[in-house]
Amino acid sequence: MLVGMADPATTDWRHVFEATYAGSPSKVQERVWRATLGDEYPDGLDPYSYVTRSELRRFALELRVGPGQTFVDVGCGRGGAGLWVAATTGAHLVGIDIAEAALVAARDRASAMGLGAEFRRGEFEATGLPDATADAVMSVDALLFTPDKARAVIELRRILRPGGRLVLTSWDYHGQPVGRPPQVPDHRPLLAPAGFREIAYDETDDWRRRQEQMHAGLLAEAEALAAEDGVPVEDMRRDLEEMQATVAFMTRRFLLVAEAV
Ligand SMILES: C[S@@+](CC[C@H](N)C(=O)[O-])C[C@H]1O[C@@H](n2cnc3c(N)ncnc32)[C@H](O)[C@@H]1O
Repeated sequence: MLVGMADPATTDWRHVFEATYAGSPSKVQERVWRATLGDEYPDGLDPYSYVTRSELRRFALELRVGPGQTFVDVGCGRGGAGLWVAATTGAHLVGIDIAEAALVAARDRASAMGLGAEFRRGEFEATGLPDATADAVMSVDALLFTPDKARAVIELRRILRPGGRLVLTSWDYHGQPVGRPPQVPDHRPLLAPAGFREIAYDETDDWRRRQEQMHAGLLAEAEALAAEDGVPVEDMRRDLEEMQATVAFMTRRFLLVAEAV
């Protein structure tokens, strides 16, 4: 199921994402994402994001964690990205998500990989983790769904030890997209007041063309997607068009690296 449009004032995003993760990952979506990203598609990780293989390597490098250390992936979804980083760095992963269905899939993936990761229900604004216990925090394409970005950044700083790194991808917006939680024009001003020092804020190469191609590909597959979800094709097409329309409000997709001071 896709993240469609809804009234942002009343949307229960937990409910939306429980439905998204209720079934197996969509084969049709995977086909479209693979066609868009080519060799950069992170095979076998079941992402529900625009993460690429190059980006995953950058996460593993920038987080600066290793064996004996712990990092947190907030908005971890089915866990593929965080588990890839855990397997690459040897660090212990704690995955946090609002959707229990995502956590169930992530736990299955971790045990299939023989990794002792933990997956817990929590939110950006309230992770439920103790102060200063994380050596690093990552997040892939999830911060946009939390309504209060400033509070979320303060919470991520609270769980990090001094010197620990935050590495995340999300989007800046120059207008408020219909059906999405409140967005901000630039995340950099949120960093220093929360106790972070900015290290990098890099616009993703080619992000707009990739997203447009992805949306066009999904629209072309509306019938197959509707059949997978068992919903009328008109509903699927409407959700896809509404998702596509959010791109017009985006200024950039970025990868942020910051250090807790
Ligand atoms: C676009 S998906 C990305 C999932 C995953 N990072 C990936 O790369 O596949 C966004 C994720 O954020 C989670 N999410 C939404 N709102 C959240 C919140 N307030 N706190 C924590 N996670 C949230 C959703 O359940 C979903 O798994």
